Amino acid sequence: MRLAVAGKGGAGKTTISSTLARSAARSGTRVVAIDADANPNLGTALGLPPSETARLGPVPTSLISRRQGGAGLTEDIGDVLDRYSLMAPDGVRLLAMGAPAHADDGCLCSAHAVVASLLEDLGADEDRLVVVDMEASPEHFSRGTVRHADTVCLVAEPYYRSLETIRRMATLVAELPVGRVVVVANKVRSAGDHEAIAEFCDRQAFELVGGIPWSDEVVAADRQGIPVVDWPAAAPVVEAVGRVAAALGQTTPMDLDAFGR
Ligand SMILES: Nc1ncnc2c1ncn2[C@@H]1O[C@H](COP(=O)(O)OP(=O)(O)OP(=O)(O)O)[C@@H](O)[C@H]1O
Ligand SMILES: [Mg+2]
Repeated sequence: MRLAVAGKGGAGKTTISSTLARSAARSGTRVVAIDADANPNLGTALGLPPSETARLGPVPTSLISRRQGGAGLTEDIGDVLDRYSLMAPDGVRLLAMGAPAHADDGCLCSAHAVVASLLEDLGADEDRLVVVDMEASPEHFSRGTVRHADTVCLVAEPYYRSLETIRRMATLVAELPVGRVVVVANKVRSAGDHEAIAEFCDRQAFELVGGIPWSDEVVAADRQGIPVVDWPAAAPVVEAVGRVAAALGQTTPMDLDAFGR
């Protein structure tokens, strides 16, 4: 499955992407994680030390050829993985999109085309999870960067502007050939929080696949630069992400009561 994780700034995209990736890899799934944020930090969230993430170069835009029907990679995807990915803990393979090296550098169109081509060539393999951690911008949709994702996961916090953001993003995704769009509620502090997101999803006919509780332990782990999966006190969050993963593996919406709201 190719899963793109989107949402408003700070909603928890990187936290959820990295936790999904590490948890799936721990249970034996092959995982490719793509940092599609021009301000990258998925590597550290996965547990790579800064000295390692500094070695992570982007998949070069010179590997893209403009061909009929859109951009494409000029090298075999297996070779691209071997040459440009870093191995993160639990065997997660991490690839990165380009980031601006200088001020006044211009647009990132080609870097977006790299992500689109990676997703296309990685294919819809049921035995492999591809997680794309996106930046907080509608550009991944307006540029079609995620056109080859099987599922887009919109992360929402329980407040109006966060929900408005996913509504706008869902409108854009609907114009792409993405098979499924789901919502994950994050930083849920109360039954009222969950209810607000559930009602919003009901009104918009969005598929809500789970709720992740607010946790001071996630904040504490982040402060120490430790991944959530490696922070035992954050276990309730890891378990909630696990329920989201289970729901994503299903074709029908889950009974939301299963999330203990
Ligand atoms: N369930 C949670 N409970 C408490 N804090 C959380 C939770 N999920 C994420 N956070 C915290 O929220 C902050 C933002 O999280 P994260 O970096 O994952 O968001 P993001 O959507 O990737 O942000 P950006 O838009 O900058 O890429 C971090 O400090 C993270 O530790
Ligand atoms: Mg992020």
